[in-house]
Amino acid sequence: MVKLVVTDKDGRDVEVDARPGLSVMENIRQLPRSVEAICGGLCSCATCHVFIEAEWMQRLPARRHEERLMLAGSRAFDAARSRLSCQIKVTAELDGLRLVVAPES
Ligand code: FES
Repeated sequence: MVKLVVTDKDGRDVEVDARPGLSVMENIRQLPRSVEAICGGLCSCATCHVFIEAEWMQRLPARRHEERLMLAGSRAFDAARSRLSCQIKVTAELDGLRLVVAPES
C-alpha cells in the first residue's frame, strides 16, 4: 500500500492506504468530504481537482494537454499546485504524497 495524506473539504487530514495502479482519484473519492469525480476519470469534468504540495509537484509526470485545458477553466486553478487527481496514477514512489481537495471539486 501507498500512504496518501488528504486534506478534505473541511480541512481535516485523512490518511489513505492507496492501491498502486489506480488513480489518486479512485483512491480518495470514497472519503466523505473528498472529490466528486463526476466523469469517473475521463478528464472531462475537473471535479477531481486537488492541490499538490510543491515538493511533490516536481515528482509527478507533467500535465497532459487535456488536463491543462480542464484546469484552465477552473476558478480555483493554481498553476503551481493544481492537478486533476484522476490523471495521477498511484505508484510506490508516491508514498507519503500530500494533497488538498480543491474547493469546487
Ligand atoms: S474525474 Fe472528471 S476530470 Fe477527473
